[in-house]
Amino acid sequence: MAHSLYCSIPKKPISSIVISSPHIIFNSVHKFVPPVTPSLFPCRYCTWSSVSSSVAETDEHYRQSPRLVAKEYADLNLADKFTEDVGNLRIRQHVNPLRRALMIPAEAPNWKEVFGDATLPLMVDIGSDLRKEIAGSGRFLMWLAKRNSSSMNYLGLEIRPKLVTRAEYWVNELGLKNVHFISTNAMVSFQRLVSTYPGPLMLVSILCPDPHFKKKHHKRRVVQKPLVDSIVNNLAHGGQVFIQSDVLDVALDMRDYFDAVPDKLVHVDSVDPSLPCDGDGWVLNNPMGIRTEREIHAEFEGCKIYRRVYKKVQH
Ligand SMILES: C[S@@+](CC[C@H](N)C(=O)[O-])C[C@H]1O[C@@H](n2cnc3c(N)ncnc32)[C@H](O)[C@@H]1O
Repeated sequence: MAHSLYCSIPKKPISSIVISSPHIIFNSVHKFVPPVTPSLFPCRYCTWSSVSSSVAETDEHYRQSPRLVAKEYADLNLADKFTEDVGNLRIRQHVNPLRRALMIPAEAPNWKEVFGDATLPLMVDIGSDLRKEIAGSGRFLMWLAKRNSSSMNYLGLEIRPKLVTRAEYWVNELGLKNVHFISTNAMVSFQRLVSTYPGPLMLVSILCPDPHFKKKHHKRRVVQKPLVDSIVNNLAHGGQVFIQSDVLDVALDMRDYFDAVPDKLVHVDSVDPSLPCDGDGWVLNNPMGIRTEREIHAEFEGCKIYRRVYKKVQH
Protein backbone atom coordinates (compact mmCIF):
# COMPACT_ATOMS: atom_id res chain seq x y z
CA MET A 1 0.00 0.00 0.00
CA ALA A 2 1.39 3.38 -0.92
CA HIS A 3 1.33 5.61 2.09
CA SER A 4 3.06 8.76 1.03
CA LEU A 5 3.46 9.39 -2.62
CA TYR A 6 4.60 12.90 -2.99
CA CYS A 7 5.83 14.75 -5.99
CA SER A 8 6.91 18.28 -6.67
CA ILE A 9 5.12 20.50 -9.07
CA PRO A 10 6.28 23.92 -10.17
CA LYS A 11 5.01 26.86 -8.16
CA LYS A 12 1.92 28.32 -9.72
CA PRO A 13 -1.26 30.02 -8.58
CA ILE A 14 -3.71 27.89 -6.63
CA SER A 15 -6.49 28.55 -9.09
CA SER A 16 -4.55 26.84 -11.86
CA ILE A 17 -3.73 23.68 -9.95
CA VAL A 18 -5.47 20.50 -11.03
CA ILE A 19 -5.72 17.94 -8.25
CA SER A 20 -4.44 14.56 -9.31
CA SER A 21 -6.16 11.33 -8.37
CA PRO A 22 -5.69 10.59 -4.70
CA HIS A 23 -3.56 7.90 -3.15
CA ILE A 24 -4.69 5.88 -0.20
CA ILE A 25 -3.54 8.42 2.33
CA PHE A 26 -2.17 11.53 0.74
CA ASN A 27 -2.71 13.12 -2.61
CA SER A 28 0.50 13.51 -4.53
CA VAL A 29 0.12 17.20 -5.13
CA HIS A 30 2.06 20.03 -3.64
CA LYS A 31 0.49 23.41 -3.76
CA PHE A 32 1.99 26.79 -4.17
CA VAL A 33 3.21 28.02 -0.83
CA PRO A 34 3.28 31.79 -0.64
CA PRO A 35 6.35 33.56 0.67
CA VAL A 36 6.22 33.87 4.42
CA THR A 37 7.56 36.00 7.18
CA PRO A 38 9.20 33.58 9.60
CA SER A 39 8.40 34.69 13.11
CA LEU A 40 6.47 33.42 16.07
CA PHE A 41 3.42 35.54 15.29
CA PRO A 42 4.00 36.98 11.86
CA CYS A 43 0.62 38.38 10.89
CA ARG A 44 -2.78 39.40 12.14
CA TYR A 45 -4.39 36.10 11.31
CA CYS A 46 -1.58 34.11 12.84
CA THR A 47 -1.75 35.99 16.11
CA TRP A 48 -5.19 34.49 16.71
CA SER A 49 -6.07 37.82 18.24
CA SER A 50 -9.80 38.19 18.14
CA VAL A 51 -10.21 40.50 15.21
CA SER A 52 -13.53 42.20 15.70
CA SER A 53 -15.98 41.53 12.93
CA SER A 54 -16.36 45.23 12.30
CA VAL A 55 -12.65 45.49 11.52
CA ALA A 56 -12.70 42.34 9.45
CA GLU A 57 -15.73 43.38 7.46
CA THR A 58 -14.22 46.68 6.45
CA ASP A 59 -11.03 45.02 5.31
CA GLU A 60 -11.10 43.70 1.76
CA HIS A 61 -8.20 41.45 2.65
CA TYR A 62 -10.35 39.61 5.16
CA ARG A 63 -13.26 39.39 2.76
CA GLN A 64 -11.08 37.65 0.19
CA SER A 65 -9.97 34.87 2.49
CA PRO A 66 -13.37 33.10 2.81
CA ARG A 67 -13.76 33.46 -0.94
CA LEU A 68 -10.50 31.54 -1.38
CA VAL A 69 -11.83 28.79 0.88
CA ALA A 70 -15.02 28.61 -1.16
CA LYS A 71 -12.98 28.40 -4.34
CA GLU A 72 -10.75 25.62 -3.04
CA TYR A 73 -13.78 23.63 -1.93
CA ALA A 74 -15.95 24.44 -4.94
CA ASP A 75 -15.92 20.79 -5.90
CA LEU A 76 -18.26 20.01 -3.00
CA ASN A 77 -20.80 22.49 -4.28
CA LEU A 78 -21.97 23.18 -0.75
CA ALA A 79 -23.13 26.71 -1.43
CA ASP A 80 -26.32 25.26 -2.85
CA LYS A 81 -26.80 23.16 0.23
CA PHE A 82 -26.52 26.01 2.67
CA THR A 83 -29.42 26.50 5.03
CA GLU A 84 -29.96 29.11 7.67
CA ASP A 85 -30.40 26.46 10.33
CA VAL A 86 -26.97 24.99 9.94
CA GLY A 87 -24.95 27.49 7.98
CA ASN A 88 -24.13 30.45 10.14
CA LEU A 89 -23.08 29.64 13.65
CA ARG A 90 -21.97 32.03 16.34
CA ILE A 91 -19.55 30.18 18.52
CA ARG A 92 -17.23 31.13 21.37
CA GLN A 93 -13.56 31.58 20.56
CA HIS A 94 -12.10 28.72 22.59
CA VAL A 95 -13.55 25.78 24.45
CA ASN A 96 -11.92 24.62 27.67
CA PRO A 97 -11.61 20.86 27.00
CA LEU A 98 -10.86 20.20 30.67
CA ARG A 99 -14.33 21.27 31.78
CA ARG A 100 -15.94 18.44 33.69
CA ALA A 101 -18.82 18.18 31.23
CA LEU A 102 -16.35 17.60 28.40
CA MET A 103 -14.36 14.89 30.16
CA ILE A 104 -16.91 12.14 29.51
CA PRO A 105 -15.73 9.80 26.74
CA ALA A 106 -18.05 9.30 23.78
CA GLU A 107 -19.62 5.91 23.20
CA ALA A 108 -18.27 4.19 20.13
CA PRO A 109 -20.94 4.05 17.42
CA ASN A 110 -21.93 0.94 15.54
CA TRP A 111 -19.36 1.38 12.80
CA LYS A 112 -21.34 -0.74 10.37
CA GLU A 113 -24.18 1.77 10.62
CA VAL A 114 -21.87 4.74 10.34
CA PHE A 115 -19.84 3.71 7.31
CA GLY A 116 -20.82 1.90 4.12
CA ASP A 117 -17.81 -0.41 4.56
CA ALA A 118 -16.43 -0.34 8.08
CA THR A 119 -13.38 -2.40 7.18
CA LEU A 120 -11.75 0.29 5.06
CA PRO A 121 -8.59 2.05 6.31
CA LEU A 122 -9.49 4.93 8.59
CA MET A 123 -8.30 8.52 8.79
CA VAL A 124 -9.15 10.41 11.99
CA ASP A 125 -9.02 14.20 11.97
CA ILE A 126 -8.87 15.73 15.45
CA GLY A 127 -10.47 19.18 15.73
CA SER A 128 -11.97 18.95 12.32
CA ASP A 129 -13.98 22.14 12.16
CA LEU A 130 -13.33 25.82 12.34
CA ARG A 131 -15.22 28.32 14.41
CA LYS A 132 -15.74 30.85 11.66
CA GLU A 133 -19.10 32.41 11.20
CA ILE A 134 -19.09 31.43 7.59
CA ALA A 135 -20.78 28.63 5.79
CA GLY A 136 -18.47 25.83 4.91
CA SER A 137 -16.49 24.57 7.86
CA GLY A 138 -15.63 20.90 8.17
CA ARG A 139 -15.25 20.54 4.45
CA PHE A 140 -11.68 19.24 4.58
CA LEU A 141 -12.76 15.69 5.44
CA MET A 142 -15.76 15.83 3.11
CA TRP A 143 -13.51 16.75 0.22
CA LEU A 144 -11.19 13.85 0.97
CA ALA A 145 -14.12 11.48 1.46
CA LYS A 146 -15.57 12.41 -1.89
CA ARG A 147 -12.22 11.84 -3.59
CA ASN A 148 -11.59 8.49 -1.89
CA SER A 149 -15.12 7.20 -1.59
CA SER A 150 -14.30 3.52 -2.03
CA SER A 151 -10.87 3.31 -0.44
CA MET A 152 -10.89 5.14 2.89
CA ASN A 153 -13.18 6.11 5.76
CA TYR A 154 -12.90 9.49 7.48
CA LEU A 155 -13.78 10.31 11.06
CA GLY A 156 -13.84 13.88 12.38
CA LEU A 157 -13.68 14.45 16.13
CA GLU A 158 -14.87 17.93 17.04
CA ILE A 159 -15.53 19.26 20.52
CA ARG A 160 -18.25 21.74 19.46
CA PRO A 161 -21.59 19.98 18.99
CA LYS A 162 -23.08 22.70 16.79
CA LEU A 163 -20.29 22.32 14.28
CA VAL A 164 -20.80 18.57 14.16
CA THR A 165 -24.53 19.00 13.55
CA ARG A 166 -23.76 21.22 10.60
CA ALA A 167 -21.06 18.89 9.22
CA GLU A 168 -23.36 15.88 9.46
CA TYR A 169 -26.09 17.81 7.67
CA TRP A 170 -23.73 18.44 4.79
CA VAL A 171 -22.49 14.83 4.77
CA ASN A 172 -26.08 13.67 4.34
CA GLU A 173 -26.72 16.24 1.65
CA LEU A 174 -23.65 15.03 -0.22
CA GLY A 175 -24.69 11.41 0.21
CA LEU A 176 -21.26 10.39 1.48
CA LYS A 177 -21.07 6.98 3.20
CA ASN A 178 -17.41 7.15 4.19
CA VAL A 179 -17.24 10.20 6.43
CA HIS A 180 -18.62 10.70 9.91
CA PHE A 181 -18.29 13.37 12.59
CA ILE A 182 -18.55 12.83 16.32
CA SER A 183 -18.99 15.62 18.80
CA THR A 184 -16.52 14.82 21.53
CA ASN A 185 -13.38 15.81 23.33
CA ALA A 186 -10.70 13.88 21.45
CA MET A 187 -8.46 14.00 24.52
CA VAL A 188 -10.79 11.61 26.35
CA SER A 189 -12.53 9.74 23.52
CA PHE A 190 -9.88 8.94 20.95
CA GLN A 191 -8.78 5.65 22.53
CA ARG A 192 -12.29 4.27 23.02
CA LEU A 193 -13.40 5.24 19.54
CA VAL A 194 -10.50 4.05 17.44
CA SER A 195 -9.86 0.86 19.41
CA THR A 196 -13.32 -0.41 18.42
CA TYR A 197 -13.00 0.43 14.72
CA PRO A 198 -12.88 -2.81 12.69
CA GLY A 199 -10.40 -1.66 10.03
CA PRO A 200 -6.83 -0.36 10.25
CA LEU A 201 -6.13 3.16 11.52
CA MET A 202 -3.91 4.57 8.78
CA LEU A 203 -3.79 8.30 9.31
CA VAL A 204 -4.37 10.74 12.16
CA SER A 205 -4.30 14.47 11.50
CA ILE A 206 -4.21 17.32 13.98
CA LEU A 207 -4.26 20.47 11.92
CA CYS A 208 -4.01 23.95 13.35
CA PRO A 209 -5.29 23.01 16.81
CA ASP A 210 -6.49 25.72 19.17
CA PRO A 211 -3.31 27.38 20.48
CA HIS A 212 -4.30 28.20 24.09
CA PHE A 213 -1.47 30.70 24.28
CA LYS A 214 -1.23 31.35 28.01
CA LYS A 215 1.24 29.02 29.67
CA LYS A 216 -1.27 28.12 32.36
CA HIS A 217 -3.64 27.02 29.56
CA HIS A 218 -1.15 24.82 27.70
CA LYS A 219 -2.70 21.80 29.38
CA ARG A 220 -5.84 22.55 27.36
CA ARG A 221 -3.98 21.93 24.12
CA VAL A 222 -5.28 18.80 22.48
CA VAL A 223 -1.87 17.19 21.96
CA GLN A 224 -0.87 15.72 25.31
CA LYS A 225 1.06 12.55 26.11
CA PRO A 226 -1.96 10.25 26.68
CA LEU A 227 -3.39 11.19 23.27
CA VAL A 228 -0.01 10.71 21.57
CA ASP A 229 0.41 7.29 23.22
CA SER A 230 -3.07 6.31 22.12
CA ILE A 231 -2.43 7.41 18.55
CA VAL A 232 0.87 5.55 18.39
CA ASN A 233 -0.57 2.37 19.91
CA ASN A 234 -3.62 2.24 17.67
CA LEU A 235 -1.95 3.24 14.41
CA ALA A 236 -1.43 0.35 11.98
CA HIS A 237 2.10 -0.46 10.87
CA GLY A 238 2.96 2.06 8.14
CA GLY A 239 0.21 4.39 9.35
CA GLN A 240 0.94 8.10 9.51
CA VAL A 241 0.42 11.14 11.68
CA PHE A 242 0.11 14.57 10.09
CA ILE A 243 0.37 17.62 12.35
CA GLN A 244 0.55 21.26 11.46
CA SER A 245 0.10 24.72 12.89
CA ASP A 246 0.59 28.29 11.79
CA VAL A 247 1.73 29.05 15.34
CA LEU A 248 5.35 28.04 15.80
CA ASP A 249 5.04 27.54 19.55
CA VAL A 250 2.13 25.13 19.06
CA ALA A 251 3.93 23.28 16.26
CA LEU A 252 7.06 22.90 18.40
CA ASP A 253 4.98 21.61 21.28
CA MET A 254 3.33 18.96 19.08
CA ARG A 255 6.67 18.08 17.48
CA ASP A 256 8.24 17.47 20.89
CA TYR A 257 5.50 15.01 21.80
CA PHE A 258 5.69 13.02 18.56
CA ASP A 259 9.50 13.14 18.35
CA ALA A 260 9.56 11.59 21.80
CA VAL A 261 8.60 8.13 20.49
CA PRO A 262 11.42 7.49 17.97
CA ASP A 263 11.20 3.74 18.45
CA LYS A 264 7.69 3.79 16.98
CA LEU A 265 7.42 6.93 14.84
CA VAL A 266 9.92 8.26 12.31
CA HIS A 267 9.60 11.55 10.54
CA VAL A 268 8.77 10.89 6.93
CA ASP A 269 11.75 12.75 5.47
CA SER A 270 14.00 10.01 6.84
CA VAL A 271 12.12 7.28 4.97
CA ASP A 272 10.83 9.23 1.98
CA PRO A 273 13.51 11.48 0.46
CA SER A 274 10.97 12.86 -2.01
CA LEU A 275 9.24 14.75 0.79
CA PRO A 276 10.70 18.25 0.81
CA CYS A 277 11.39 19.84 4.19
CA ASP A 278 13.00 23.09 5.14
CA GLY A 279 16.26 23.27 7.08
CA ASP A 280 14.42 22.88 10.38
CA GLY A 281 12.61 19.72 9.30
CA TRP A 282 9.22 21.27 8.60
CA VAL A 283 7.43 19.70 5.65
CA LEU A 284 7.16 22.40 3.04
CA ASN A 285 3.89 21.52 1.36
CA ASN A 286 0.54 20.16 2.37
CA PRO A 287 0.60 16.47 1.42
CA MET A 288 -3.18 15.97 1.35
CA GLY A 289 -4.01 17.66 -1.93
CA ILE A 290 -6.39 19.99 -0.09
CA ARG A 291 -5.67 22.59 2.55
CA THR A 292 -7.72 23.03 5.69
CA GLU A 293 -9.75 26.16 6.01
CA ARG A 294 -7.52 27.69 8.64
CA GLU A 295 -4.51 26.85 6.50
CA ILE A 296 -6.02 28.70 3.55
CA HIS A 297 -6.74 31.76 5.69
CA ALA A 298 -3.29 31.68 7.28
CA GLU A 299 -1.38 31.28 4.03
CA PHE A 300 -3.43 34.03 2.49
CA GLU A 301 -2.14 36.25 5.30
CA GLY A 302 1.42 35.18 4.53
CA CYS A 303 1.86 32.92 7.54
CA LYS A 304 4.17 29.95 7.43
CA ILE A 305 2.57 26.58 8.14
CA TYR A 306 4.75 24.29 10.26
CA ARG A 307 4.11 20.67 9.28
CA ARG A 308 5.39 17.27 10.37
CA VAL A 309 4.46 13.87 8.97
CA TYR A 310 5.36 10.74 10.94
CA LYS A 311 5.19 7.12 9.93
CA LYS A 312 4.80 4.19 12.29
CA VAL A 313 7.64 1.71 12.03
CA GLN A 314 8.52 -1.59 13.63
CA HIS A 315 12.02 -1.87 15.04
C1 LIG B 1 -8.54 26.24 14.92
S1 LIG B 1 -9.70 25.03 14.58
C2 LIG B 1 -8.88 24.18 13.25
C3 LIG B 1 -9.87 23.51 12.35
C4 LIG B 1 -9.29 22.75 11.18
N1 LIG B 1 -8.47 21.64 11.64
C5 LIG B 1 -8.53 23.66 10.28
O1 LIG B 1 -7.30 23.54 10.23
O2 LIG B 1 -9.15 24.47 9.60
C6 LIG B 1 -9.50 23.89 15.91
C7 LIG B 1 -10.72 23.02 16.10
O3 LIG B 1 -10.44 22.05 17.09
C8 LIG B 1 -11.59 21.91 17.93
N2 LIG B 1 -11.11 21.37 19.21
C9 LIG B 1 -10.44 22.02 20.17
N3 LIG B 1 -10.14 21.19 21.19
C10 LIG B 1 -10.64 19.97 20.86
C11 LIG B 1 -10.66 18.70 21.50
N4 LIG B 1 -10.08 18.52 22.70
N5 LIG B 1 -11.27 17.67 20.89
C12 LIG B 1 -11.85 17.84 19.66
N6 LIG B 1 -11.86 19.02 19.01
C13 LIG B 1 -11.26 20.07 19.58
C14 LIG B 1 -12.14 23.32 18.01
O4 LIG B 1 -13.51 23.34 18.40
C15 LIG B 1 -11.93 23.81 16.58
O5 LIG B 1 -13.04 23.52 15.77
